[in-house]
Formats: sequence, C-alpha cells, structure tokens
Amino acid sequence: MKIFSKLKTLPNHICFIIDGNGRWAKKRGLPRMAGHRAGLDNLKKILEMVKVLKIKNVSVFAFSSENWNRPKAEVDGLMNLFREMLSENNEQYIKDDVCIKILGDLDGLPADIKQKSLYLMEKTKNCTSHFLNFCINYGGKTEILNAVNNILKNKLLHVDDKIFKNYLYTKDMPDPDFIIRTSGEYRTSNFMPYQSIYSEWYFPKTYWPSFGKKDLYTALKKYEKRDRRYGRIKEKV
Ligand code: FPP
Repeated sequence: MKIFSKLKTLPNHICFIIDGNGRWAKKRGLPRMAGHRAGLDNLKKILEMVKVLKIKNVSVFAFSSENWNRPKAEVDGLMNLFREMLSENNEQYIKDDVCIKILGDLDGLPADIKQKSLYLMEKTKNCTSHFLNFCINYGGKTEILNAVNNILKNKLLHVDDKIFKNYLYTKDMPDPDFIIRTSGEYRTSNFMPYQSIYSEWYFPKTYWPSFGKKDLYTALKKYEKRDRRYGRIKEKV
C-alpha cells in the first residue's frame, strides 16, 4: 500500500461498476459464473484496500434491475454470491465500524436475501467510520420514480434538491465523487443518475476480476488530476 501514500487527494465517495466478469471468464475458456466468482474475490480485495486508504464512502453496483433478464442459472448463481457476501463478514464489519446499506428494490429480491440485507443494515446502523453500499436490484430511474411517488403520497407541494434527496435510497449520503466502470464500456447504465451529475467518471479497459492494486492507484491518480469546477470557471475575473 506504500505507493498510495503519494496521493494527495482521495474521493470521499468512490463507486465501482464491476463490469467484465463474463468476458474475463470467456477469455480463459471458463463458464461465466467463474468470472463472477473471481469478481467477488477481487471485490473483497479492493474493498480491503479502500478501507486501509480510509475512503469514507464506497458504493458497489452489483446487480441492476435489468440484470434479471440474464439466464436463470446465472441469476441464481449471482444470488448465491450475494448470500455469501451478506452473511460472511458481519462481525468484521462491526469490528471495523462499517455501516452497510443495500440500495435497491429489496422487495424484488428472494425473501432470504431481503432478510439478510435488513439484518445486516440493522446490525451495522450505528457504525460511522466507513459507509459501504451494495447496489442490488438497483435502478436509478426506479429510485427517482419511487421518490416522486412517495412525495406525491406525502402531498408535498414543493420540493428542492435537499428534500428530494431525502426520498432517494442514498438519503444522507454524499454524492459520488469518483465512479469507476471497468471493462472498457462507456455507459452509465442507470447508476445513480440524480446523484452523479458532477461525479468524475473513469472507464479503464481492464475486466473487473483483473482490476488490482496498481489499477486502483492509477485510477486514484487520474482522480487527483481532475479539475472539479462544478460549472464554475477557475481563474478570478
Ligand atoms: C458484471 O459483469 C457483473 C455483474 C452483473 C455482477 C457481479 C456481482 C458480483 C461479483 C457479486 C458482488 C456481491 C456484492 C454483494 C456486492 P458482466 O457479467 O456484465 O460481464 P460481461 O459484460 O463481460 O459479460
């Protein structure tokens, strides 16, 4: 982790769109699920690194509301990986003071995964050192439409950005500073459309299972060089 000490600016909220598992497997003549297995193992390593780096907020886009259209065997296999990830680290999250949130439509998930998600969120709700979000059955458009419908239900006549954000899954979270989508796909795919208007995006060609420590460093170095102006101009006039 020594190379990382050269970095001067780190994002407060980093997001990973972990793409390319299937192609990683295909390139090696392996079944797609082997790619997802390798993707999960890699995710665990990367999450460990961002924790050591003390990046406060991390979000991982693991399953979109559109991913249900994949073959049943792959969807079932992915659900098993979620079961694993939502069960195995519970004590460690508490020890490390990590607050976990599952962002997405929990009602659309198998009952045991919904229950594991609610349990983990409840168990870690008072943790404040790190905030780790798993986006599962997540869709940005649905998130916005849910917010609008709940606002209508509450009969609000006027909303501003602050109020609207309270109706999103990401309530109380800072907007993403830096979003990394691996595998060379240049799309945002319904990921946090409301929250990402001023996020910095980075699209490395590497498939997610191969995205390692050096790639994370390169990505963070790119982030450090970005000139975030939020619509303003740099020089004084
Ligand atoms: C994209 O690769 C990856 C996924 C759709 C799912 C990845 C999920 C995991 C590894 C489990 C993570 C678990 C938690 C709880 C965060 P792809 O299949 O679209 O790759 P391809 O575009 O190369 O086919």
